[in-house]
Amino acid sequence: MNRIRCDRTPAWSQLQTAFESTGCAFDVRSAFAADPARFEAFSQSAPHVFADLSKNRIDTATEALLLDLAQQTGLAAHRDAMFAGEAINNTEQRAVMHWLLRTPPLDPAMPAQSVHRHMAETLHEVHTTRDAMLVFAEKVRADDAITDVVNIGIGGSDLGPQMAVLALDEFVLPGKRFHFVSNVDGHELNAVLRKIKPENTLFLVASKTFTTIETMTNAQSAKSWFEARGGTDIARHFAALTSNVAAARAFGISTTFGFWDWVGGRYSVWSAIGLPLAIAIGAQGFKEFLAGAHAMDEHFRSAPLAHNLPVRLGLLDVWYRNFHGFSSRSVAPYHSALKRYPAYLQQLEMESNGKRVDVTGAALPYGTSPVIWGEPGTNGQHAYFQMLHQGSDVVPVEFVAVKTPRHDLPGHHTLLLANVLAQAQALLLGKVDAGGHKHFTGNRPSTFLLLDELSPASLGALIALQEHRVFVSGSVWGLNSFDQWGVELGKVLAKDVEARLISGNPQGLDGSTAGLLARLAPGLQPCPHPQTPSLGSASA
Ligand code: F6P
Repeated sequence: MNRIRCDRTPAWSQLQTAFESTGCAFDVRSAFAADPARFEAFSQSAPHVFADLSKNRIDTATEALLLDLAQQTGLAAHRDAMFAGEAINNTEQRAVMHWLLRTPPLDPAMPAQSVHRHMAETLHEVHTTRDAMLVFAEKVRADDAITDVVNIGIGGSDLGPQMAVLALDEFVLPGKRFHFVSNVDGHELNAVLRKIKPENTLFLVASKTFTTIETMTNAQSAKSWFEARGGTDIARHFAALTSNVAAARAFGISTTFGFWDWVGGRYSVWSAIGLPLAIAIGAQGFKEFLAGAHAMDEHFRSAPLAHNLPVRLGLLDVWYRNFHGFSSRSVAPYHSALKRYPAYLQQLEMESNGKRVDVTGAALPYGTSPVIWGEPGTNGQHAYFQMLHQGSDVVPVEFVAVKTPRHDLPGHHTLLLANVLAQAQALLLGKVDAGGHKHFTGNRPSTFLLLDELSPASLGALIALQEHRVFVSGSVWGLNSFDQWGVELGKVLAKDVEARLISGNPQGLDGSTAGLLARLAPGLQPCPHPQTPSLGSASA
């Protein structure tokens, strides 16, 4: 499909003019004073998520222009192409169908059902594969001898399941502990191995490609540790979650759960990569997680663009990045269990949209992915919120709060909510002080996402919302949001440097790397189980 570059559309020029005339001086406080209905106009209900966008530097005229931009860049057609299973990941010639993983079975009585009929067979395969995985999850849950589940994986094979298991801690089966090993730094695996016993442990080796060097090294070391302690039943204590089942078998793991090349690594928590979550919260909980996400898929697919939450958020991201020039967004989940949510969003957004070329490989003259960063509130308030309130850069903040907690400690939740509301209010209102040091400029934008509760369903919806909003900005920017070539070069260079650390050979190196090498090498141990990553090969 032909995608028109956003900066060549009439809407882009109009947005430029609007920004220069009124947008750059837009004061949200005056907008509230002028329009008593502003909160209603800039709030949006979506499945499981209520969003208040009213504290942003936006008015209805600007939002209308942004919607024109979406229309002129063909956002709806691009979205529909994704849902039709077209190979929109053009550099890898792959469809993008993580959403199919959360689509319920087809109902023959409903001919107009949203999923395309030609995908019925694939959908059937999805359900059969998931059913097998959920049966396994229930078996592990019922197995009292398995007390520790160790997920070995990195990137999307770590961040999604780890974030979700932590987030849904209140739903996790008592008596099972979950560990996540991602870093090739042996300290991480070692710290887990110290706490577990082979006979009580299930290792899940999670890797879409089954070639990622960190994961393969950790998996091999875990297997050696298991065998050195007398472990023999690999089939019971190791399972592989991968789309490269042949490589998992060659590695010696016979218990495997597969998925498909049309599931990107950072979109894979809904697939077999979600097995740790399924074990943690059970088959029913996992289905609710998928159902929440599916409800958001349907919203994204069918709500008019003007009332479509992922669309409104993604367009706001474009407005901030390309017209206001804001280069980062801070995420502030006011729920301590969402501690890995910022890290999860970093991969989702920056690996998807951190690109300076369009789908054809042509360089783009405008900014793309913002930097995503943050910590749960209220902790962030006592660290970097100083900069958010009084720093020289304006950083839009995206709060997440939950109406009903799952604890009954008196007063805590009231205090937590008071803080999140107060922070958003302080960013907006500011405070006049002649002294300078105590002056707050205010008019600092924020978005407020509100969930009724943090549950499997609402978490699924929240994550799907974020996936789709990243799709929206990436689509307007003309990117392929589904490849990640930028991570490949470092992987290949590491292989060369590894050999030099052992040999000490600095020949041909740049001066800095050679200088550092001289302080570290030779004499380091080679990895006993080498892997060979190659640029442009199997990608996640
Ligand atoms: O870092 C690049 C990347 O390919 C991510 O996209 C992916 O989530 C991660 O590595 C892990 O890949 P795999 O699941 O194949 O081990």
